[in-house]
Amino acid sequence: MMRITELAHAILRPTLKAGDWCVDATTGHGHDTLFLAEAVGQTGRVFGFDVQAEALAATTARVLGRPQVTLFPCGHEHMAACLPPDARGRLAAVMFNLGILPGARKAIATRTATTIGALTQALDLIRPGGHITVALYSGHPGGPAEAAAVAALADGLPSTYAGSRVSRLNAARPAPELLIIERIA
Ligand SMILES: C[S@@+](CC[C@H](N)C(=O)[O-])C[C@H]1O[C@@H](n2cnc3c(N)ncnc32)[C@H](O)[C@@H]1O
Repeated sequence: MMRITELAHAILRPTLKAGDWCVDATTGHGHDTLFLAEAVGQTGRVFGFDVQAEALAATTARVLGRPQVTLFPCGHEHMAACLPPDARGRLAAVMFNLGILPGARKAIATRTATTIGALTQALDLIRPGGHITVALYSGHPGGPAEAAAVAALADGLPSTYAGSRVSRLNAARPAPELLIIERIA
């Protein structure tokens, strides 16, 4: 069965083209950053955020030699301030993979307030036809509350956005979920 992270790639892949600008809001080991960098090519741009040195080191190693990637050693809640001013309304995709870095020495998890702050900024940064994906987990402390807050945000979106949720049936419990938001106009 396809993992939730693979599902996010499968959904985004046909929507991305060379030259697009994207954000990986939680770079972790850099799998999503690399996926985005390959999708947009050297004429595109990928901006990555993580608060953990271990994650940034792993991502740096994974995307070595790809000048389209810029990493910010700071929280995604500062996304709008860190990106170039012309990123607003221009991003083709913003990916969030919430929770903790698998295998990390320190369990630094994403948190509800900063996640919602970053998501709110991302809504403004994506272009019409652009997508936000959020991989939601409830296994880490604060995870269920964070997932519920993200779901509530998605449920309250204005009509210029469309939200959908996919959960992995038969997955290990607690099952991860993928939230996809598309900007319609
Ligand atoms: C599930 S991991 C991401 C996995 C990653 N997408 C991959 O492909 O390997 C979650 C990451 O979020 C990071 N994180 C926690 N709080 C954050 C914040 N406020 N802003 C950005 N990243 C954060 C953690 O350090 C961790 O690396």
